[in-house]
Amino acid sequence: MKTTAIAPSNIAFIKYWGKKDEELRLPANGSISVNLSNLLTTTTVEFNKSLKTDDITINGKRDAKKANRVMKHLERIRAVARIPTKARVVSQNNFPTAGGLASSASGFAALTIAGTKAAGLSLKEKELSILARQGSGSACRSVPDGFVEWLDGDTDKTSFAISLYPPSYWDIAIVVVLAGNEEKSVLTSEGMRFVKSNPFYPVRLSNMGRKIKELKQYMKKRDFERFGMLVESEALELHAMALTSAPPIIYWQPLTMRVMKLVQGIRSRYFPVYFTIDSGPHVCIVCEKKNQNLLIQKLRQQNIQDIIINKPSLGTRLTSNHLF
Ligand code: DP6
Repeated sequence: MKTTAIAPSNIAFIKYWGKKDEELRLPANGSISVNLSNLLTTTTVEFNKSLKTDDITINGKRDAKKANRVMKHLERIRAVARIPTKARVVSQNNFPTAGGLASSASGFAALTIAGTKAAGLSLKEKELSILARQGSGSACRSVPDGFVEWLDGDTDKTSFAISLYPPSYWDIAIVVVLAGNEEKSVLTSEGMRFVKSNPFYPVRLSNMGRKIKELKQYMKKRDFERFGMLVESEALELHAMALTSAPPIIYWQPLTMRVMKLVQGIRSRYFPVYFTIDSGPHVCIVCEKKNQNLLIQKLRQQNIQDIIINKPSLGTRLTSNHLF
């Protein structure tokens, strides 16, 4: 059976940075995110007995390195479904895959949902999140709807993501400013390895429980200003970790810094607005929906044109619009 899934990317408000088990992708700490409505991966999977090997096309290309990771994930799906059959996979992003836009999150979430269904399985959301996590950690957060928490867990079966609130819970806008188009210089998995010897890292981890609790309280009260301040300082902490790792990693480009300064300037003069940044140069700006147009106007005034506007989104879902 041919099956297609659409998965959103997600941006973390509390970041996943470091693994306690690399193979299983158990994170060193829990994390919190929101799914993004306009950063999507569509993936079609079909298991076909006439295939001798998996046939994988991503964004119109057959790339051996990317295909390898996809094939590993297909192996996981085949193991659960107890089938030997090879698959054809076609996957398409609606956004550029370069530098830090989390294509692995939406990519592995879409592959998990389309792949398991195509293999004849009908797994529950929790099981799908566990499986997606093994492909790419952040992918487990793209499975449930809206605002999501990844419970770190100590074992394969206890590390998965759950929905905290549906997309409609909070009228916020997430505007992504593209600040570079190179492929990532340091892979996320490498960055997470380097941080292990960082002397500041244990301090970060020891504060995590409190930080997650605090953020969830602000979300519960829809206290946008306290929420935003914590989100922004958490993003800066992630980059402080990267900057002080050995070897050091600088994910920012000059435009990244310009946008950070601009956001802080707009905040001090006009309305509450905050930024967060993953392991790449792009900046995600978060504001209340009512201020979205004004924010875009301010960005355009500064000649910042390359933006993707998002609202909170559903998680991964099936569609009948197949790619082949
Ligand atoms: C900085 O999920 O890409 O975006 O598990 O190695 O595939 P792997 O890592 P990945 O890491 C995302 C890291 C981050 C923070 C976050 O999304 O929480």
